[in-house]
Amino acid sequence: MQKTLSIIKPDGVAKKLIGEVVSVFESTGFRVAAMKMKWLSKSEAEGFYYVHRERPFFQELIEFMTSGPLILMVLEGEDVIKRNRELMGATDPAEAAAGTIRARWAHSKQNNIVHGSDSEESAKFEIGHFFSGIEIF
Ligand code: CMP
Repeated sequence: MQKTLSIIKPDGVAKKLIGEVVSVFESTGFRVAAMKMKWLSKSEAEGFYYVHRERPFFQELIEFMTSGPLILMVLEGEDVIKRNRELMGATDPAEAAAGTIRARWAHSKQNNIVHGSDSEESAKFEIGHFFSGIEIF
């Protein structure tokens, strides 16, 4: 069984979409193996998005991700990394396939409701950034 890190970003929490998004994951058959609500510090957000540090949108992205509490989850399932990204849809909601989380609820490329790890390597790093082994069930 594969694991991935999923985030319901501050816009998803503010729009009261926690239940809707978790329902998409659970009805697909993913298991929630860990979950917590957290308001990220600047350094936690910067560390998480380290690979994007040279991008022009980096500072705005950090401001957005620290603008309110978010939900951190570890999802488990067969091929969950790829399948979670299919459920989320493209980064830009205008390009996201109909029925995906971002097509349904995202406002912009930045305020796009959810994050999901994009590879096994990033899932390992991202899960370890937020969860210790004893918090994952
Ligand atoms: P995420 O999947 O969490 O990965 C990096 C995040 O950066 C992305 O979702 C968006 O929230 C944000 N992002 C990516 N591209 C852009 C962009 N062109 N402008 C603003 N924000 C972006």
